[in-house]
Amino acid sequence: MASYRSAFLAVATVSLVACSVRAQLSPTFYGWTCPTLQSIVRSAMTQAVGQDPTMGASMLRLFFHDCFVNGCDASVLLDDTPAMAGEKNAPPNRNSLRGYEVIDSIKAQVEASCRAVVSCADILALAARDGVNLLGGPSWVVALGRRDARTASISAAVANLPPASASAYTLMSTFASKGLDMRDLTALSGAHTVGSARCSNFRPHVYNDSNIDPGFAWLRRQTCLAVGGDAAMAPLDSTSPTRFDNSYFQNLMSRRGLLHSDQELFNNGPADWLVQLYSSNATAFATDFAASMVKMGNISPLTGYLGEIRLNCRRTN
Ligand code: HEM
Ligand SMILES: *[C@@H]1O[C@H](CO)[C@@H](O)[C@H](O)[C@H]1NC(C)=O
Ligand SMILES: *[C@@H]1O[C@H](CO)[C@@H](O)[C@H](O)[C@H]1NC(C)=O
Repeated sequence: MASYRSAFLAVATVSLVACSVRAQLSPTFYGWTCPTLQSIVRSAMTQAVGQDPTMGASMLRLFFHDCFVNGCDASVLLDDTPAMAGEKNAPPNRNSLRGYEVIDSIKAQVEASCRAVVSCADILALAARDGVNLLGGPSWVVALGRRDARTASISAAVANLPPASASAYTLMSTFASKGLDMRDLTALSGAHTVGSARCSNFRPHVYNDSNIDPGFAWLRRQTCLAVGGDAAMAPLDSTSPTRFDNSYFQNLMSRRGLLHSDQELFNNGPADWLVQLYSSNATAFATDFAASMVKMGNISPLTGYLGEIRLNCRRTN
């Protein structure tokens, strides 16, 4: 009887441990339930980026804005409802985040093959990875098993997404609060080697900052007036805006970062040596970026019985 009881205790303990282990993501999570998932996402992204190369950058940013706000749980994809002001209309996202219809289309294709088993959060993680890779960037193994949130919060988006005006110190503490260190911050900021920004976000830097190449500041002011024209766009990396390479870091070293927050990473501060490293070694950047994307993708996912598998990424079931 005593040995039966201790055997029972041992089993109970093992299953408790198994419970907490289950909270981890796994690359083979859909191995049986949706073996075609990764090829569906890859071909849909190949088509989307082929039609519009800027979509690679937009998918990457969508994933970042998902993960930093209550974890990688597809909360960013929820439309507002009368009862809920979601993240899409938060100032960092409104009139800026895009690509929702690409996710809708991938989700519809995934649902047609594997009904109600694959989360929107996992689709977004895969789409971001493929977007980077299709623009010439690295690839990495995406661990899966995230589930979808039932709520979203406009105030959480405001509180957790760093603005372009952020100092190096603010950037480091925002990333640290997500378990990401200075190396992650610097590598992940290399995402700004693709995509573009609106005048309202880079105006203060090109008009008022002193740590900027004067010729570059002049050039950007031509299409971003001191007053008005807030929506005018400029590439975050003027050298190769649809190429995922390390020229973002080379630009920072010649004081051609577009955002104040970009140039903060190379401004006689603690990240200078990393900018220098990535600018001279594309492999070091690619390797570190991939590793940091995996870390970012692990920010408090919903797993097990938490959340749900949404049928439509824009609304809860
Ligand atoms: C370090 C703090 C960061 C700040 C302050 C920041 C800020 C911004 C801002 C202001 C824009 C332009 C938005 C607009 O004008 O409409 C932007 C664009 C972008 N950001 Fe960041 N960002 C940061 C980190 C990241 C990270 C970690 C990633 C991804 C790993 C990322 C990916 C992107 C991409 C790809 C774009 C271009 C999007 C497009 O063209 O559609 N950013 N970011
Ligand atoms: C530049 O700084 C001045 C003084 O702080 C401020 O009044 C002005 O609005 C700033 N201009 C831009 C474009 O940020
Ligand atoms: C560049 O970085 C990679 C990866 O960290 C490293 O293996 C390689 O030795 C570096 N190359 C140079 C020329 O320093």
